[in-house]
Amino acid sequence: MSVKRGVLIAFEGIDGTGKSTQIELLARRLRELGLAVVATREPTDGPHGRRIREMFLKRASLPPDEELRLFVEDRREHVIQLIAPALAAGKVVLTDRYYFSTVAYQGAAGHDPAALLALNESFAPRPDLVLLLEAPPAVGVRRVRELRRESLNDFEQEDYLRRVAEIFTGFHDSRLRRIDAMGDIEEVRRQVWPPVRELLAQKGLLATGSPALIQANADDHDQI
Ligand code: TYD
Repeated sequence: MSVKRGVLIAFEGIDGTGKSTQIELLARRLRELGLAVVATREPTDGPHGRRIREMFLKRASLPPDEELRLFVEDRREHVIQLIAPALAAGKVVLTDRYYFSTVAYQGAAGHDPAALLALNESFAPRPDLVLLLEAPPAVGVRRVRELRRESLNDFEQEDYLRRVAEIFTGFHDSRLRRIDAMGDIEEVRRQVWPPVRELLAQKGLLATGSPALIQANADDHDQI
């Protein structure tokens, strides 16, 4: 798929690694730097995304092929309606989960990870950067349970998440950066910033010497 590129950054990782918090913080920082940012997530709030959320609590009732189809159709819509237009308009798109989640989660459910990757890359723009937030499955499960005060949906059971995490761990891609998500929010934020800054600088999107950028970099150094 060919689109005039903004920048696409995907946050990935098992449940409970703090992706949405980091996206919120990064979106705020990038807006302070004067960039046009779109923060989004998968599953989306579109029709397929809503069906996916409905099936969370009764996953066994859905055949694995149908489950995969829903995630892929949801993404197809997401790309057409939001991601591709935003990239064409030169925006910075931050997505909370993208096709690496399908490779890891539906891979853990029995599909061939390499085939899942090829299927997704046939229609979904490749991200410029993938930030993989890593924490042991037991920690992710505990955070989902305690911090969110939520019961675990079928995707969040520890055995299953261990298989998901193994697939995430096995990813090798030049665009992927591993982030240790065991620390607190600030510690994780400080690891997220350098690869993002490097990418935006490469793309010529950072006005070096701007007060907001100097402040952003100083915030991080101060706290190390
Ligand atoms: P999640 O990010 O936890 O959504 P929310 O926090 O809004 O409930 O995603 C829901 C679940 O969907 C999560 O456990 C991972 C799973 N998932 C897949 O299995 N395949 C996919 O392609 C995606 C995007 C998510």
